Amino acid sequence: MTNVPSDRNPNDGQPRPSYDRIDVPRSDAEVKDLLQRTIEAANNSVVVTDMRQPDNPIIYVNQGFKALTGYDEDEILGRNCRFLQRHPDGTMDNDQAAVRAIREAVKHGRYARVVLRNYRKSGEMFWNELYLTPIEDDDGAVRYFVGVQNDITERVELNQSLERRVEKRTNALKEQRDELEHAKERAEAANRAKSVFLANMSHEIRTPLTAILGLADVIRAKSTDDTFEEHISRIKAAGSRLMDTLSSLLTLARIEAGSMDMELEPATVVDVALEVTELFRSNAEENDLSLDFHVTPDARDAVAQLDAGALNSALQNLISNAVKFTDSGRVEVRVYTTTYEGTPYVAVDVEDTGVGISEKFKPFLFESFSQESDGLTREFDGSGLGLAITKQLVEAMNGVITVDSIIDVGSTFTIAFPRADEHERPTQEAPGTRPVDDRDARVHLVEDNDNTVFLLQNLLGDQIDLSVSLNAADAVQHAQNEDFDLFLIDINLGAGGSGVEVLHRLREMERHATTPAVAVTAVAMPGDRDKLLKQGFDDYLAKPFEADDLIEMVNRHLEA
Ligand code: FNR
Repeated sequence: MTNVPSDRNPNDGQPRPSYDRIDVPRSDAEVKDLLQRTIEAANNSVVVTDMRQPDNPIIYVNQGFKALTGYDEDEILGRNCRFLQRHPDGTMDNDQAAVRAIREAVKHGRYARVVLRNYRKSGEMFWNELYLTPIEDDDGAVRYFVGVQNDITERVELNQSLERRVEKRTNALKEQRDELEHAKERAEAANRAKSVFLANMSHEIRTPLTAILGLADVIRAKSTDDTFEEHISRIKAAGSRLMDTLSSLLTLARIEAGSMDMELEPATVVDVALEVTELFRSNAEENDLSLDFHVTPDARDAVAQLDAGALNSALQNLISNAVKFTDSGRVEVRVYTTTYEGTPYVAVDVEDTGVGISEKFKPFLFESFSQESDGLTREFDGSGLGLAITKQLVEAMNGVITVDSIIDVGSTFTIAFPRADEHERPTQEAPGTRPVDDRDARVHLVEDNDNTVFLLQNLLGDQIDLSVSLNAADAVQHAQNEDFDLFLIDINLGAGGSGVEVLHRLREMERHATTPAVAVTAVAMPGDRDKLLKQGFDDYLAKPFEADDLIEMVNRHLEA
């Protein structure tokens, strides 16, 4: 067998027969006959129209066209192809971009490819992929058009169903996104509503509470004997407890709303820890517990970036819990330094010999309103917010909190903060002083609440020249005509206006352009202090306040 590689057809590996051995049609008649038979037998549908006859009629169709449309030859020949656009209801379905494209192609004697809706004789719709090709005569004028049709219904419907699925999916995703968006908006609105509610509630509770606690002080000061000492103490204790719960709620709401503005600055941990421990000394003694405080030498000056108020609250929660949950034995507070993953920390342990925490409860320990009980009885006082707040506060100061506990043996809570010892030890603030120093001072109080006015008159009335306006208009009028050394201004004057308005009017007056003005308010929401200072107040005193704090503040501004 001869092997001539150049003669091989690369596709089938068989030797290619030489061209002159193929029997090709020799005459035109033979070629025509061959072509006609080929077209006739083709699976595609073929149609030829004559451009020179009126309305471009069909002069030839193959069997493929008949099979595709269901019409017989005598129903087809001599007609324009548009009869395929006739809807079973008798109307013409010719408002299709494809029909307009064919019209243009035919008009200009151009090639075209379109896909359009057509109808078989049976009335069934099909998608027709139509190729139009002009055939020119010897003069270059278009004499015939050849049309080749394919039924692509299956392909189009598959595409359409895919498109519908994609569209459905896209719509579903869009709906989900919209729903999420709405949920977010609703959550934000709810959060704002919560803040407003808390601000209002805070105001509503703090204002009367200020009066209750303050007047208890007044009664104590004016009593000549001890008849009511116990009653007063109880009023003060219950009021303070209510204030604590209120503060805890507000703190938690602030932390959860992400609006807790912590002011982190270098603070000596041992100072805060000692101060808080001492707060609980009498409490521990009443319960026959020993309360010990230890500090290792290297922790004496250990400083961390803290918000002293926040650390104070966190430790108060831990130590008060330790005292509350320990029947006998001791509570020990230890301050020491340690290193974790190469970072030096200053840590505080609060250890007790109390009831301990069950394994079952440990996972929920730091959640809001959690208290270990059967859910019906509450064995111990408290709102169950303390540990949730403590954890949030500690973490907001970049600290960590851990707990180690054995039931009926005791618990140790540890909080630790990265050390920041290169900072200087902070200086101590001067303590408050009892009587007002400047007895001739003229102080003007703007306050609409009778109880608060009565309280301040009792606390300050004997010591300074205190005058009062019950609303904004009254205050402005007084200020226009009189000199004062200090203004104490309530912010929420009810229908009588706003303290901020009063301040702005004061600042417009030459005589009070720089007179110190203190906002005295039960509005104690996140950022309120800063907001009021930004508005131009020189200071801020939250209700309820201790008598000493008020006097200290008054002194500070009268001296300045
Ligand atoms: C067509 N036309 C056509 N129309 C249709 O709906 N289905 C078809 O299969 C075909 N096939 C076809 C083949 C050839 C060769 C030509 C020249 C045309 C189009 C139809 O005849 C007509 O041109 C269009 O309907 C636009 O013109 P009218 O209806 O606005 O005159």
